[in-house]
Amino acid sequence: MFEEAQYFAPVAAQEDGSVVVELAASHPGFADTVYRARRNAIAGLAVNHRRGTPIPAAEYSEEEHEVWALVTRELAVKHAKYATAEYLDGAAQLGLPKERIPQLEEVSRLLEPLTGFRYLPAAGLVPLRDFYGVLAEGFFHSTQYIRHHSVPFYTPEPDVVHEVIGHANALAVPRYAALYHLAGQAARRVESEEALEFVSKVFWFTMEFGVMAEGGELRAYGAGILSSYGEIEEFRGMDVRPLDLSAMGTTHYDITKYQDVLFRAESLQHLEDVVGDFWATCDDDSIAKLIAADI
Ligand SMILES: [Fe+2]
Repeated sequence: MFEEAQYFAPVAAQEDGSVVVELAASHPGFADTVYRARRNAIAGLAVNHRRGTPIPAAEYSEEEHEVWALVTRELAVKHAKYATAEYLDGAAQLGLPKERIPQLEEVSRLLEPLTGFRYLPAAGLVPLRDFYGVLAEGFFHSTQYIRHHSVPFYTPEPDVVHEVIGHANALAVPRYAALYHLAGQAARRVESEEALEFVSKVFWFTMEFGVMAEGGELRAYGAGILSSYGEIEEFRGMDVRPLDLSAMGTTHYDITKYQDVLFRAESLQHLEDVVGDFWATCDDDSIAKLIAADI
């Protein structure tokens, strides 16, 4: 009954060393045995990967490369209208391939000279402490699979389109990358689970779903909006609130639905002053005060 709320498909390592991705019955690829076999193989690459070694290449079908090409083309049109100038500049600098899915190793090769960030493969959900913690060292955990080709503009889970088009283009921007770093340092510094969750929610409402005033209109810099074909058309009509740490860190969100509450920075400098300074200095005590301030 909680199937609709499932975000990352659970990944189970079998006794024989193989890996099984448990797709929900509602997943578009559920009945496609070839797709499911590929998902299992790709998850196995991440489960067996050791940091410091090259990320093994994932096998994609021609149909999947076509999904990437189609989504890249369509999103680029929308980005020109809805993405911040910094994100557009990051995308131009990074120069992701347009016609085929890049391997994560290639994404790292493009990204590292720009901001030092490198990609790590993730089979599915990565525990909060690890996911955010490694940002402090310039690593970004990324899934490698791509959505099912029958629905190129929809995915119930974060796929390589989200991780690379959404995040790598943002991680190519030095000032955004610095914010990711600071979020990682905050995650390493805080001790309680409550404080870690607060840090992660501030990340959710900024680097995932953040919007910003630019040239008299609202533009998106969050990877979740910028990688979503539907959401990118909707965000200007959402409940957009002023940037507020207490509110961001305590607002509930539903990862399976469009994000209907958003927080707006007045500029990149404003985002750095409020959120960057928070991540640079927060600890369990300061977060407890922010939580109390919202009650
Ligand atoms: Fe993300």
